[in-house]
Parts: sequence; structure tokens; C-alpha cells
Amino acid sequence: MNVYDSVRMADVLAPLGYAASDTPEGADLVILNTCHIREKAEEKVYSDLGRVRAEKERRQKAGGRMLVAVGGCVAQAEGAEIIARAPMVDMVFGPQSYHQLPEMVTRAVRQGGGVVELDFPPVSKFDTLPESVSPQGVSAFVAVQEGCDKFCTFCVVPYTRGAEYSRPVAALEKEVRALVEQGTREVMLLGQNVNAFHGEGPDRQSWSLAQLIARLACIEGLERIRYTTSHPRDMTEDLIALHGGEPKLMPYLHLPVQSGSDAVLKRMNRKHTAAEYLDIITRLRKSRPDIALSSDFIVGFPGETEQDFTDTLHLVQQVGYASAYSFKYSARPGTPAATDDQQVADETKAERLQRLQALLMSQQEAFNRASVGQTVDVLFDREGKYEGQVMGKSPYMQSVHVRNGAEWAGRILPVRITEAFANSLAGEIAIPQPKQQRRSAA
Ligand code: 5AD
Ligand code: SF4
Repeated sequence: MNVYDSVRMADVLAPLGYAASDTPEGADLVILNTCHIREKAEEKVYSDLGRVRAEKERRQKAGGRMLVAVGGCVAQAEGAEIIARAPMVDMVFGPQSYHQLPEMVTRAVRQGGGVVELDFPPVSKFDTLPESVSPQGVSAFVAVQEGCDKFCTFCVVPYTRGAEYSRPVAALEKEVRALVEQGTREVMLLGQNVNAFHGEGPDRQSWSLAQLIARLACIEGLERIRYTTSHPRDMTEDLIALHGGEPKLMPYLHLPVQSGSDAVLKRMNRKHTAAEYLDIITRLRKSRPDIALSSDFIVGFPGETEQDFTDTLHLVQQVGYASAYSFKYSARPGTPAATDDQQVADETKAERLQRLQALLMSQQEAFNRASVGQTVDVLFDREGKYEGQVMGKSPYMQSVHVRNGAEWAGRILPVRITEAFANSLAGEIAIPQPKQQRRSAA
């Protein structure tokens, strides 16, 4: 979501003459778009600010000017405190205010910094952002929903991103059509709670995510649709059915469970049990047998016992994940779990994380190994590390690299998988090269 927001910040600043630059050196404006989800992400902001300050001072000594802004969820949570701690920061703004960047820049220049914008304005930023979105390449992000009303007891999102909001279907269709015209073949629909989508449809009724996806699937030239991140409680029957019926909807789902223990899930306020989660997985696999599954896990949530943790390992064994993200619980100020008096010792968290990650990695490796010998469609979306190498994604979100394939960038082609690694696959294009095809047809 932060990547998408950064693209939109560039869009909103373009009319002022700003264009994105690869490095802070020589930039007129540096924006750190920050994440508050865990302590580690937050610490990064202050260390990055140190580096930016050095550049700002260099610029000032040379008689120039550089504006420095901190946006995103750390800005929302810390507000003016950021300027108190790092006085070289000129602007602080939350994730719901970045459409006001042109006005903030003007104010910062006029008053010499000190701009703090943390409101959740009554008018959605999406109503005032420019209609045209910068090209994002063959695979593009589209925010369809923002914010969250679930209030899991460990999570800052409902406080920093605010209440759930879904964009209207017509605006989304327009945005996706424009991206496709610019060469996009795959969209990743984004939302903190994306499957709770309830945007206004063209018929003025509230549309579900499944309805939105079915509508977008009609767009010619759009080949792949994905969505993230989903909550188990919102995994509705129509969405599960669509996985079986809509070929453009990719067979991969990131469905965080966080823990396999009902006692922990309850204290997390996750609003579902382990058995309910497993039942969703069963129904998904019935609908789309080859669906690849992914999840987020938190270990060492306050009060987590060895038995609770073993329940998580057991759930992982039952599901069999293609990939997963796992984290040590990180106390976030202002969330209910942060003040729980049953905090788990860091060594215990570290030891459980290691055990969980070893199991998840073995599942990921097994999933990748099972691809060897198979032919899968790959959307080539980026260059590889080595000369001539091209990288892409399988339908199951695996990274696939092919040698001598620079000309395949931007295309979807069948690839025969020859080798599996922990985090990627190697393969060969499984069709004769079009150049040869053209020659034989002539
Ligand atoms: N500590 C650790 N992990 C967290 N997450 C969210 N909040 C915390 C926290 N306080 C994880 C969850 C979520 C993912 C985006 O980040 O697993 O799904
Ligand atoms: Fe945070 Fe996701 Fe829970 Fe919402 S559903 S509070 S975003 S973990």
C-alpha cells in the first residue's frame, strides 16, 4: 500500500514540476513514506532521517534548498513529535492527507517548515487525487479499499489508516482501464482489509470484492487479477466460488491466520477460530484445487504458552503453505495488547520464530520442488540480476527466472520449470520463439 501511495504522491506533485528521482542526492524534496506496523519498521525512519539530514545540510551549504517530509503511518502516530526529534523535517503528514501535498509544500516554503497534517478529512483523498495514474509497468497496484474496522488487539492500522473505506466501482474500473492502456497486464487490488470491500456499484448498490473482480475481469488486455490482504471473516462464498470460476483470478491467496490457538486468537480479537479458518481453506481448495496459500503469523503474543505455539505449528502442518511471513510480537503503543501484563520474553519469541520459520521454509521448498517438470504461465515483469536474465511471476506468486530472455519482458509465456530454489524457480520458455514462428509462417 505504501508503494501505491508513493506513486500517487508523485502524481499529485507532478503538476508542480516535481518528478521522481532515484536518490536523495540533488533532490528538492525528500519524502519518507513510513510504516508503523512493527517497531523495526519505525526505527528505520529515524536512521534514514540521519542520512537525509546530511544531504540537506550539504545542499544548504551550497546555497540550495531541500524540503524533507515524513509521511505515512509513523507520521500519523507520532505527529509533531517527529519535528521535535528531528528539527530538519519540514512536513509531517498522515496517509489520509497526501492529496494535500501541493498546498503543504507551498506552506512549508512560505513559513520555513513546521507543517503538520494529520486530519482524516471528511472528503476522501481519492476524490481529489489526479485521475491519471503514472504507468507502473506490466504489474500494477490499485488501492480499492483502505483502513480497517477489525481492531485486532496487536495492530495499529485502525488508528493510523482510520476506518474502512471502499472506493466506488466506476472509479476503479476507470483507473484499471487507464493502466491497461499503458501496458499493465496484472493488477494487485490493495486494501488493509481488501475482502471487506463494499464499494458503490454502478447500480448504486454496495458491491462485494467478488463483484468488483468479476467486473474488472471483463477488461480486455487485463490478464491477471490478485488481491491482498484478506481477513478470514470476510472470505465470503461468492469470493471463494470466483476462485473456481474466473480464470483471470490467480490461484494464490494471502490469508493471514496469525495463530493456530483459539485462546490466542480470542485475545487477539481475530473473530474466528482455528477450525473456522481450516474450514475456509477446505472450501477454497474445493473451489480451486491448486490454490497456493500464504499467511502472516505472530509468535510470542502476550500470554502465548508453549501449547498455544504448538497449536500454530499444528495448523501450519494441516494447511501446507506455499509461502508465509512470520514475526515476533512487537508491542505497539496505544494498542490493547501493548499493556497486557503477560508479555513473552524475547528469547522465547526468538526461539519460537526460528522453529516456525523452519517449518514454513520446508513447506515453501516442497511447494517449489513440486513445480519442477511442470509448465506454468509466467508474466515477465522485471530484469534479472544477470545479463539477459528476465524475471517473472508464476500464477502461484513464485519468482521465475529465465536466461537469455530480455525480449520477453512484459509478456506472459509458458515456462517449463527446470530447477527449484528456496525463493525462486528457474525455467525455460516452453514454446518455439516467435521469431522462428514468424519465419516458418512466411
Ligand atoms: N507485532 C508483530 N506483528 C504484527 N503485525 C501486525 N501488528 C503486529 C505487531 N504488533 C503483523 C501481522 C499482520 C502483518 C501485516 O503484520 O501478522 O498480518
Ligand atoms: Fe490490523 Fe489486519 Fe487486524 Fe485490521 S484485520 S486490525 S489491519 S491485523
